[in-house]
Amino acid sequence: MKNESNFLDRNEFNFQPSEEVVEALKNFDVKKLCFYTRIYDEGKKSILSVFLSELYNIEESQILLGYGGEDILKQAVHYFLTEDKTNKTILIPKFSWWYYKSIADEVSGRALQYPLYEDGDTFKYDFHAIKEMVEHEKPKVILIASPNNPTGNGLTPEELDTLLADIPAYTTVVVDEAYASFVSADASYIRKLINKYPNLIISRTLSKFYGLPGLRMGFGFISKELEQFIKYSNKYLGYNRISEDLAIAALKSDTHYRNIAHMMNEDRTHYKAEIGSLPGFKVYRSVANFILIKYPIELKEALQKAFAEQSYKIKFMNEPDINTHLRITLGRPEQNRIVIDTIKKIATR
Ligand SMILES: Cc1ncc(COP(=O)(O)O)c(C=O)c1O
Repeated sequence: MKNESNFLDRNEFNFQPSEEVVEALKNFDVKKLCFYTRIYDEGKKSILSVFLSELYNIEESQILLGYGGEDILKQAVHYFLTEDKTNKTILIPKFSWWYYKSIADEVSGRALQYPLYEDGDTFKYDFHAIKEMVEHEKPKVILIASPNNPTGNGLTPEELDTLLADIPAYTTVVVDEAYASFVSADASYIRKLINKYPNLIISRTLSKFYGLPGLRMGFGFISKELEQFIKYSNKYLGYNRISEDLAIAALKSDTHYRNIAHMMNEDRTHYKAEIGSLPGFKVYRSVANFILIKYPIELKEALQKAFAEQSYKIKFMNEPDINTHLRITLGRPEQNRIVIDTIKKIATR
């Protein structure tokens, strides 16, 4: 059997969950599963949305919950692209998670890509081009990922604010912040932005920074004005009660996950120093738990073989204009060492 801990291709978590999460699972009162939650009697969605409301200092009614970030994104894209029969246009980043186009296609949306450009060792959103496309196409939805997968670049809160100021209220802005907790512990801008703009949804998840992709728990923040969507998204009989407890335990153990993120930062510098100096390789700056590397395409087969021999999975990108690239999840230091050494061995043969 293959060693599961060597999956470095889908930005998962190769570390241990926090003690609090383990304890929450051990101590879960199974009798809770015999009943629906009663929290809706208080007009609330979940003990988790109440917890998030306090943690992020945002009204509970402006918190969304979903079956992973993917569910929040899918609900939002489906809802807004089918709300108005005359406008099914959605703008998505040119290099981005394949899923965005797929959920637009599911409701016959018209997905158009807006550009990102390379600037030194990073990618950037082209604000000017986005503004022009928004004016010209009048999209129903614009999806922005920050940090973006696979390019690894993100927007600062100020940049996001600047971008939002140029987008009309009839366009719903969905910001996928699946990886945002890696960037900063400060999320105070979310409250400001969802209260400043009437058309904003910010989606986050327990899957990346909090390392629980198997839990399938996502959460989001939304402008009050989008109340129809809030109602649409709400689950009358509540959410998975085991997931609620585990999610709260993870959110309470920020330090454990922040320490791991620091470890990743160190390993990122090893990638930069050791792989970035190999001929034909380029390591992009990343603020998430993965790293994007451009490599000489003639090494593809040899690299694929070398990684397969060690049962290490990394992502060989295939998308247009970003197909001579590897996206590698930052794993444990010893895994990262094997990846770096494997690449070096092939590159210097
Ligand atoms: C950019 C981005 N958003 C969202 C997700 C989905 O995460 P979740 O597990 O919360 O559905 C992923 C998963 O890889 C992702 O890369």
